[in-house]
Amino acid sequence: MYGLVNRAVEKLVCSRFGEPAWERIKARAGVDVEFFASNESYPDSMTYGLVAAASAELGLPAAAILEAFGEYWVLEVAPAGYGAMLDSAGRTLPDFLENLPHFHTRIAMIFPNLQPPRFETSDRTPNSLVLHYHSNRLGLEPFLLGILRGLGKRFQVAVQVDHIGSRGAGSDHETFRITWSDGAAA
Ligand code: HEM
Repeated sequence: MYGLVNRAVEKLVCSRFGEPAWERIKARAGVDVEFFASNESYPDSMTYGLVAAASAELGLPAAAILEAFGEYWVLEVAPAGYGAMLDSAGRTLPDFLENLPHFHTRIAMIFPNLQPPRFETSDRTPNSLVLHYHSNRLGLEPFLLGILRGLGKRFQVAVQVDHIGSRGAGSDHETFRITWSDGAAA
């Protein structure tokens, strides 16, 4: 994954647990990188290794770390670096979700080697839709869940996410029903 992802993991850990914790996590993961360059690609195994080491070092489940990271990503990292892109992707949660299938296409213009997730939406009702998440990577559903919770905060609506289909259960992708409170204009 691009270095900006690892950098964001580093920032999150340092801000909540301090720099010495981050140094221990890197050592445990066997990652000998002083500085992650945002626009350089690093092996996915490095990111997974950092999350596993953070889980062991901080005594938190990996899923909880990924979820916290998803919220942090969409509420802190993305607005600071890519605010205009976020703003133009929708003024309400449902608009934003309907635009998700195209979102990473614009990001791929900045990061040409991006291996983005692929999204589709279906089954729209006034206060829910079904989001289909396709990825070559495994185990990042809690990251997506954190992003969706963060989007609820961004748009100030209560969001409920139900994981209704998965690769583990024989599908070729992950499926979530997302329901939002009436506060969101449809
Ligand atoms: C401006 C905001 C965003 C930026 C700059 C961004 C950028 C990225 C980057 C660089 C990666 C790593 C992929 C790679 O390096 O090959 C990634 C992965 C991912 N992004 Fe985004 N993203 C943004 C917003 C979002 C949003 C709003 C969602 C979903 C609601 C999302 C969902 C994901 C997921 C699930 C992955 C994991 C990759 C996978 O499943 O294969 N991202 N994104």
